[in-house]
Amino acid sequence: MKINKSEITALAVNEKQYPKDNKFEIAFAGRSNVGKSSLINTLTNRKSLAKTSNKPGKTRTINFYNINDQFRLVDLPGYGYAQVSKGEKEKWSKMIDDYLHNRENLVEVILLLDIRHEPGEHDLTMYKWIKSYGFNGIAVCTKSDKLSKSQITKQISVIKKKLGIADENLIIPYSAEKRMNIELIWEIIEEILEV
Ligand code: GTP
Ligand code: MG
Repeated sequence: MKINKSEITALAVNEKQYPKDNKFEIAFAGRSNVGKSSLINTLTNRKSLAKTSNKPGKTRTINFYNINDQFRLVDLPGYGYAQVSKGEKEKWSKMIDDYLHNRENLVEVILLLDIRHEPGEHDLTMYKWIKSYGFNGIAVCTKSDKLSKSQITKQISVIKKKLGIADENLIIPYSAEKRMNIELIWEIIEEILEV
């Protein structure tokens, strides 16, 4: 994918603040700190288009990124972040659910998982929901630079089994640091956008 333009077009906490045209959107979901915002930067070749942090809980709004005036990448707040109040957690979870359940522009939700860990309860629920909603169920496994080649193979098989992924094309080891499989992820996104 050749990126001619990448810019943030909206930060939303509710539906009224979403962009109003009918461009397709691809959203990234996953635990806090898994690397959702970093993936947007890696895909767009920008250092800090999306704000990242080594502390979980950085992204607190739904952030819409316009790509080439053609479609949008959508960065969601992470789930499973313990250091916030119950009220705050409920607010985030409602914000994410409202977007995922009601957004007509949404054509795919890509789940991000840390390749080093077995998927947790939240990840399983999210993946099941993604599949049940008729999306492809693409799992991008982040931080692969932290593992050896053989450990990557092993963890991919652990995650694949836990999530019940039959098609191995749907699970992709990735690294922001090494830009591993960025072209592959773009190819998958392009394919989705053609539908
Ligand atoms: P929230 O906004 O809190 O939900 O987190 P997020 O999922 O957007 O994570 P973010 O992109 O902010 O990344 C969290 C931390 O992980 C940052 O310190 C990133 O630099 C780091 N990180 C992200 N991807 C990778 C990766 O592939 N490899 C390594 N080594 N670090 C990564
Ligand atoms: Mg983030």
